[in-house]
This record gives sequence, structure tokens and C-alpha cells, in this order.
Amino acid sequence: MENTILVTGSSGLIGSEVSSFFCERNYKVYGIDNNMREVFFGKKGSTKVNLKRLEKKFQNFSNYNIDIRDRKSIDDLVKSLKPKVIVHTAAQPSHDKASEIPFLDFEVNALGTLNLLEAVRKYCKDTPFIHLSTNKVYGDTPNKMELKELATRWEYRDYLFKRGIDEKCSIDQSTHSLFGVSKVSSDLLVQEYGRYFQIPTCCLRGGCLTGPSHSGVQLHGFLNYLIRCNLLSKEYTIFGYKGKQVRDNIHSYDVANFIYLFSKDPKISAVYNIGGGYENSISILEAISKIEEISGLKMNFKYSDQSRIGDHICYYSNLDKIKSDFPKWNISKSLDDIFFDVYQGLMNK
Ligand SMILES: NC(=O)c1ccc[n+]([C@@H]2O[C@H](COP(=O)([O-])OP(=O)(O)OC[C@H]3O[C@@H](n4cnc5c(N)ncnc54)[C@H](O)[C@@H]3O)[C@@H](O)[C@H]2O)c1
Repeated sequence: MENTILVTGSSGLIGSEVSSFFCERNYKVYGIDNNMREVFFGKKGSTKVNLKRLEKKFQNFSNYNIDIRDRKSIDDLVKSLKPKVIVHTAAQPSHDKASEIPFLDFEVNALGTLNLLEAVRKYCKDTPFIHLSTNKVYGDTPNKMELKELATRWEYRDYLFKRGIDEKCSIDQSTHSLFGVSKVSSDLLVQEYGRYFQIPTCCLRGGCLTGPSHSGVQLHGFLNYLIRCNLLSKEYTIFGYKGKQVRDNIHSYDVANFIYLFSKDPKISAVYNIGGGYENSISILEAISKIEEISGLKMNFKYSDQSRIGDHICYYSNLDKIKSDFPKWNISKSLDDIFFDVYQGLMNK
């Protein structure tokens, strides 16, 4: 029987990488994307270019211009396709944007996910359902860990040093941003449909996911936006924490590779942190120095004392659980590879 996969948000950073990955492995790939990223972030956020690239390159890819909030269309599509794998990446992805559009954010992130889960329960209960969650489900609890301040970055002290945040971190009683809350809702729904209905679901709590296909904007897509500002000599604003805030970066290829492995060996209601880990962590100040070195261009930036509400001071993922359950998976793209790919991607645009 033909291998089929349904990918929501198929024109976005992760969705387009997953679509390519499975197309290259001869799956019939059905995407769902209505370019809503342009509605959230304006023209610069448009993901149409990724859609055109996929359509041109792969005969086995097709896209449905459906909104995941449209329950009837989602129900009809899942009923007719009964795909062998579902990867759910469509979302309103920005922490800061959510407070301007609380209803839209919740409807896309929480209700959109529920629409998909309910269709899966009705028509294809054995289909692995892999959901892109986020480290923002932990709210600002990681900020309560003991930190040490170095010249260019914050780091965890003692036990957490080099290990990072694991899946046992509380998702309760902290500041999440409204985005964090809509994502907690979808994360819990995905887990519940797994446990309650015995569906092989997976929540991937991402650190900074990045790659050449990101339509980076100020409100979402940290590294891509920072590198874009450097190349265009556009002013970049650092928000608080002295610019020493640390993010762990993972290339979208490594995310797609994990999704593939999970689809081959699914589990019920799995939850994993996925990110670059300590090795791929970098602060904003360090990222600025690195891109200046690569491009030879001075970064034009200003500093604002006001940190983003609920923003992490330091976050890197503990990858012990994901690596122990999937020993064949590892980070294959270093921070240098990531910078190079994003830089090249932007130069070629
Ligand atoms: N990029 C990151 O750093 C990061 C970090 C952690 C978690 N995540 C999560 O990973 C997922 C994918 O993120 P991304 O960076 O690829 O985002 P993205 O914005 O690049 O891609 C999302 C895609 O979904 C589409 N979309 C949005 N709303 C839709 C709707 N209602 N109906 C149909 N399509 C819709 C958009 O047009 C876009 O192409 C999201 O769930 C996000 O929360 C991302």
C-alpha cells in the first residue's frame, strides 16, 4: 500500500522540511497551508515561496489551501485520505504576537489541533500524530533555575550545567505568554488523545528551530531574522537580559529526521524536548559576533532594557530522553552548519 503523510503548515519552516524529507523517501505528501503566516506577520512572513519550491520539485507533493480552524474541511480531508502519518506544524508561532490576537491565536493553536485530533480519532486511530509543541509550555519556570553570568552569556549552574531542561519541568504556575497557553492547551490535548484513546501521539517541545526556509520576522524566527538584519544592515533590537540570553538551535533537517524515526517506531502519548542542546546553544551577543565574522558586516543593533514578557533568560534542552528512546537519532548539524545554511539561504533569495 502507498505510504501517505499529511503535513499541516507544509509551507512553513518545519512543515516544508518535513514535506521534502518524506517526498524524498517516496511518500505521497499532502500539505495543508493557507499562508496564514502572512496574515500574522505581513508580506515578509509569507511562506508562498516554500510552497512553490515544493510544488516545482516534487510530483508526489500537493497542497490543500485549507484553514485548520475549518472543522468540516479537516474532517472531510482526514476521512478521505486516512494518511499513514500526520505531522502537525501549522500554528500562530509568536510569543509576542499572541497578545494582540488572543482569539485568533487560541483558535488556530488549540482549536485547530482539536479539529485534527478528533478527525484522527474518528478515521485513523492507528496513525502516528506528531505535534510541534514548544519549550514555552514551561512558561518562565526555567528562569527560576540558578544561573551564572559569564562575559557573553547566561548559563545554568551546578546540576543543570550542560544538561539543560528536561520534560519533568513543571508546565504549571508560571508566566507563559498567551501563545504559551494556547500551546499548552494543544500539547495537553495531544497527550490526552494519546492516553485516553490509545493513539500514537507525540509532542515535540522545541527549542529554537531554524533553517534556510524560515520566513524570519522580528516577532518570530530568532536566528533567521538576526542574520537577515545583518545582511540588510537593518537595525536589530535586543530586548533585555544584557543580550546574554541563551537559545539552543536545531536545524529543521534534524527535526524532520526525528519525525521520520518516530513514524517508524511510534509510541502512545510521547513527550520529548527537542532542540540543539548545550552544544548548539548561543546567546544573542555571541550570535551577533558570529554572523559579523561570517558576513564581514557590522551588526547595526540597539539595546532595550525591556525584556519580553515570559521570555527565557537561558534555555537549552536536555536531550537524554529523546536520545535514549531513539538511539539512532542525534544532532547532525552543528551551530556552524546552521549559520552557514541560513546565511546561504538568505544570500540566494
Ligand atoms: N520555529 C521555532 O523556533 C519553533 C520553536 C518551538 C516550537 N515551534 C513550533 O513548531 C511549529 C512550526 O513552526 P515554524 O517555525 O515552522 O512556523 P511557520 O510559521 O514557519 O510555519 C507554520 C505554517 O503554518 C501555516 N498556518 C498557520 N496557521 C494556519 C491555519 N490556520 N491553517 C493552515 N495553515 C496555517 C502558516 O502559513 C505557515 O506556513 C509551530 O507549532 C511552532 O509553535 C517552532
